[in-house]
Amino acid sequence: MGGLTLLAQTVSQTDNTSIFAPVSPPAESIRQLAVLVFVISVFIFFIVEGVLFYTLWRFRRSTATANESEPPQVYGSKPIEVAWTAAPALVVFVLVLVTTRTLWEVKPTPPEPQVGDNTLFVTVIGHQWWWEYVYETYDGKPLGFITANELHVPASTDGTVRNVYLRLKSADVVHSFWIPRLHGKVDLIPGRTNDMWFETASQGLLLGQCAEYCGTQHAGMLLRVVVDTPEAFEAWLQNEAQAARNASAQGVAGNGADPDRVRQGRELFLSHSCINCHRVRGTVAAGTYAPDLTHLMSRETLAAGMEPNNRENLVKWIRNPHDIKPGNLMPAFGLSDAEVQLMVDYLSTLK
Ligand code: CUA
Repeated sequence: MGGLTLLAQTVSQTDNTSIFAPVSPPAESIRQLAVLVFVISVFIFFIVEGVLFYTLWRFRRSTATANESEPPQVYGSKPIEVAWTAAPALVVFVLVLVTTRTLWEVKPTPPEPQVGDNTLFVTVIGHQWWWEYVYETYDGKPLGFITANELHVPASTDGTVRNVYLRLKSADVVHSFWIPRLHGKVDLIPGRTNDMWFETASQGLLLGQCAEYCGTQHAGMLLRVVVDTPEAFEAWLQNEAQAARNASAQGVAGNGADPDRVRQGRELFLSHSCINCHRVRGTVAAGTYAPDLTHLMSRETLAAGMEPNNRENLVKWIRNPHDIKPGNLMPAFGLSDAEVQLMVDYLSTLK
């Protein structure tokens, strides 16, 4: 039973990362090209193999006509020469044309942001081994907040297309941004900016994966895109744009959490070197080396999509991040169990 469930999960995950289930125009163009190239290849395969097997059969050694003399030797044939030059040239020509058309469809030049265009611009920065998302503008209005690992975008709805343009950069080595149902792979290259465009009406979660080997945790550099309804997306934007909850010493509140413990946890967090790498907007934590934690609890996963974001995994992560993600760049700080619990009490209020 467990095996069946696992199989069902694997199949549904595979569906969600299949280039044959596109939900955006660029992914649809890529699928059409892939199918066309496949059909042409199959056609050529059957012609070549057909001629090969026909020849093997037609000119097999037969006992009836067996003799020791060689068969007639033929030198040169103009029609055949022309055919085997022209046919492949024609095939290559057709492939060049359709590939060029697909390239144009997949990668239009990003427009300037304008009020009323419903377009979202996000800068994506690849890090070893997580994704940083700098929300630039939406519908022409500046956003200017940063989040990590879960990209939220608005869905296109009847009559309104909501284009998403990503600017792709890298903070260290080459990564590749690949959400198969939205777009082909686009590399994030140090010192260079690449672009990606899509729009989709398919609400819900889309999965992907860093597609360029980038070190120890390349396989643990997962991609999650949440396609929200326009209303849900606006609400998410509003929440993300705010500074962290419980940023000041006063006014501590948190779903059932003991305010005293939250306060102590915050002080503990802010007095450790966490703040050299992590940012929590509204506090002195202003690091940019590691994921922004301002709205940590609005994310469903930890460690770039590897584990569900819950109390148990937060505790495990802070105690020793390498238990979850071996080789990642966050050290274990050797906190006591009591300190870890306090810190998680605080982090759990960052909604
Ligand atoms: Cu980043 Cu592979």
